[in-house]
Amino acid sequence: MLQEKIQQYSEEIERFVPQSYNDVEAFRLKFLVAKGVVRTLFEEFKSVSPDQKRSLGKVLNEFKQAAEQKYQHLHEQFASNKQTSKKKAEADLTLPGEGFVFGSRHPLSLVRKEIVEIFKKLGFIVAEGPEIEDDWHNFTALNFPPEHPARDMQDTFFIKKQQGNDIALRTHTSSVQVRMMENGEPPFRAIMPGRVYRNEAISARAHCFFHQVEGLYVDKDVSFADLKQTLYYFVQELFGEDTKVRFRPSYFPFTEPSAEMDISCTICKGKGCAMCKGTGWVEILGCGMVDPNVLENCGIDSSTYSGFAFGMGIERITNLKYEIRDLRLFSENDVRFLSQFETELI
Ligand code: DAH
Repeated sequence: MLQEKIQQYSEEIERFVPQSYNDVEAFRLKFLVAKGVVRTLFEEFKSVSPDQKRSLGKVLNEFKQAAEQKYQHLHEQFASNKQTSKKKAEADLTLPGEGFVFGSRHPLSLVRKEIVEIFKKLGFIVAEGPEIEDDWHNFTALNFPPEHPARDMQDTFFIKKQQGNDIALRTHTSSVQVRMMENGEPPFRAIMPGRVYRNEAISARAHCFFHQVEGLYVDKDVSFADLKQTLYYFVQELFGEDTKVRFRPSYFPFTEPSAEMDISCTICKGKGCAMCKGTGWVEILGCGMVDPNVLENCGIDSSTYSGFAFGMGIERITNLKYEIRDLRLFSENDVRFLSQFETELI
């Protein structure tokens, strides 16, 4: 009786060809669970007469092994198929592609790049210096008198006080002028973009860090006329040919004479608006002839060489170009602001 059953089930197992993973699962439920065929046959085996037990026991054990092996084999085969067929079902090939999401350059990077490109045409190279600077390069070599307010804790982030040469976050890119002149021989013709730091409360108009581009031109017979023409060319390239410039006398420790340069307001074209506070002019940079003391401090003979220098804030130029009225937008990483520059992928 039991022997016949084993025989029948063995044939069934041998013939069994599943069509899907569901069939494999049905196989397991039929043969291998607690109340499945295999266990049931073992239950029946208990009541078999002792003389039959030996031979039937062997047959039953072989049947059990065959059932388990068949399941194991089919399970492995269908489990991997199951995954790929699931993936295939998920991919709807008729859907449109997702496309790439392009980022955009930061407006300050765009403007920095534009400034650099214009000066490159005039033969200026690009130089950089460290943001953590010592007193000598940031102040002393640039002819800052000892009592100058920039040396005050109020204005400068000092990192380390040390005898005669404090360490600070640079307050301007003029320090790169010093490094360049100390480490090379004239002529120098370079622009130096970079980040600078000042101890200011953050508001729409001031920030504790911002960006500058420094310019330096040192050679024999460099005059104020060279300075004016260079900056005039720069402004016309950047803001358009109808832009006017004017120079106002000013003071910087490292230039003599010094000037501030205004341009005719790019927004109202000189008529007067909120950006230029009704004056028709906006200040964009400081400049002047490199003070002979600075040349000497950097080991350059001031009786042979002269030069001009200038420094401008990139944020200020960007504000003018794009009419941005709050400095904080530049560093808040708000994509609603940044994505407005998407078309300017240069
Ligand atoms: N370093 C000055 C500042 O941060 C800007 C400046 C003015 C740079 C005149 C110059 C210069 O090279 O000649 O305000």
